[in-house]
Amino acid sequence: MNRKVTVVGGAGNVGATVARAIADRELADVVIVDIAESKSQGIALDLLEACPIEGSDSRIIGVGATEDGWKETANSDVVVITSGVPRKPGMSRDDLLNVNFGIMKAVTEQIVKYSPNTIIVPVANPLDAMCQAVYKLSRFPKSRVIGMAGVLDSARMRTFIAMEANVSVENVHAFVLGGHGDTMVPLPRYSTISGIPLPDYPGMTPEKIAAIAKRTADGGAEITRLVGTSAWYAPGSAAAEMVEVILKDKKKILPCSVYLEGEYGINNLFVGVPVKLGARGIDQIIQIKLTAEEDAALKKSAAAVKELIDVIKV
Ligand code: 2OP
Repeated sequence: MNRKVTVVGGAGNVGATVARAIADRELADVVIVDIAESKSQGIALDLLEACPIEGSDSRIIGVGATEDGWKETANSDVVVITSGVPRKPGMSRDDLLNVNFGIMKAVTEQIVKYSPNTIIVPVANPLDAMCQAVYKLSRFPKSRVIGMAGVLDSARMRTFIAMEANVSVENVHAFVLGGHGDTMVPLPRYSTISGIPLPDYPGMTPEKIAAIAKRTADGGAEITRLVGTSAWYAPGSAAAEMVEVILKDKKKILPCSVYLEGEYGINNLFVGVPVKLGARGIDQIIQIKLTAEEDAALKKSAAAVKELIDVIKV
């Protein structure tokens, strides 16, 4: 394999899930970097030992977050940042701000040093603020820092729509915009079941749609309450989908957190919007027409991201 993906914090639950999905699909070789060096080596070895069964020749190594370890990440095509502390029950994503900002500083420096041309996919929370930190610290072009949030939030919304309508998830398309927080903006009008807009689908009442939107916005907290820590399977799958789209230059439109400079009337801020992803990272930011109500909700969500940015001053 000549493609390389580094997963920073890869010995953690989300990171290991991303690494596994990449290896299972034989998308690239994987370097797991983690401050827990022996766990990193062990997780990598365990994943590698699954490869004969999965039929994958991806090479997976695990290294510590040391100078020698980071050297192994050199010239990665994509770097996924899953490091950072996860939520505990009752915590919001925003409660993680300062500690995870410190971690972003340390890892971004190493990523830039060893993979100056890579594409970075931040996954750590609070997601949009961490993206902004990585973007400013890396000095990368905005096309190469793309946050994972909308793919996860849309997957959750798709799940709840499919459950409510009792249809295949494959029939369901969903769109969630805004910051990856309590103010995220599920868009029922642009969500469809087999091409039929959600509000027009038989039996899909406004009350049911409101309940789906609410459960989507609360999706991360719901898992945290049940498990005692943040989710990892769906976040891992979501990050792996972004990696696949980038490596295969699929030009797939996905909701991602990206740096807006006037799009949707939002300036100098990472917020989730639909983007076309390909080998160069962001190919295009897609602007769709919002109703006054949707636009107000998106602006409210952007304002919540801005509050965090004002604290870390990036
Ligand atoms: C979630 O929503 C971890 O933020 C992630 O589950």
